[in-house]
Amino acid sequence: MTIQIIPSNQACGAVVRKIDLTEELGGETVAEIRSAWLEHHVLSFPNQAMTDDDLERYTRYFGPFGHDPFFGPIPGREHIAAIRRDADETLPLFAEAWHTDWSFQEKPPQGTCLLAVTIPPTGGDTLFANQHRALDEMPAALRSRLEGKLGIHSAKLPYAPDGAYGAKDKSSGRSMDIRPSEEALAEQLHPIIREHPETGRLGIFSTLGYIIGIEGMAQEEAIPLLRELQEWQGRPEFQYVHQWEPEMLVMWDNRSVLHRATGGYDGHPRLLHRTTIGAN
Ligand code: SIN
Repeated sequence: MTIQIIPSNQACGAVVRKIDLTEELGGETVAEIRSAWLEHHVLSFPNQAMTDDDLERYTRYFGPFGHDPFFGPIPGREHIAAIRRDADETLPLFAEAWHTDWSFQEKPPQGTCLLAVTIPPTGGDTLFANQHRALDEMPAALRSRLEGKLGIHSAKLPYAPDGAYGAKDKSSGRSMDIRPSEEALAEQLHPIIREHPETGRLGIFSTLGYIIGIEGMAQEEAIPLLRELQEWQGRPEFQYVHQWEPEMLVMWDNRSVLHRATGGYDGHPRLLHRTTIGAN
């Protein structure tokens, strides 16, 4: 099967056509997709009427399932979470800040798959920011302050019991099954500038939020530096704006991009099924 890959002409992202993800894929096709994924970092596959079985099978072509620590799975599935917002929900959006999934883990996941189930008629785009480009174009003065530094990663700001999605948020009626816990207090170090584990290309890994400090640096210095870095990382010229369609699958490389959700669909439900591609 020869698949068609159409780059977005933005900072990353490509659409993949002439492929049916409801069928089993051969090794050659999987290798073609993997190579396009490493090149474009975000791939979208329109018109895929995939079931949850298809989503799980597709995810496993690229690695083991990752561990999703603070989401409950959907009923009957161990590895699928629902990214859900009901039509009448008024709580702050889930995942509206730039992040890369689960960067606070010892071995953060390679990627994430997100399958559109219910897509609102307007809004709800997902933004991606290419962190290789952000590093390549970073002013030398900022880069020199980050070279060789280790970021302190933690899930505590969003997922600790007193975090943004903690007990208070849960009791306010969020539809998504988020499960805050003390596990979020753990810390993990990763280089802020690091080689992509598969391509070797240098990039910035994660951002303020999951990065809560810099090893060996006082917080008074680290937080303003991380804030400056975050502003740089999400600049429009590094972005790909992803517009969803029903029955669309998207997979992104957490080692290369940041992402964030956007709103603009009040009064409409939005539901996507998510799997995590764990580290190899
Ligand atoms: C996510 O970060 O997994 C969700 C992104 C989105 O809802 O657009």
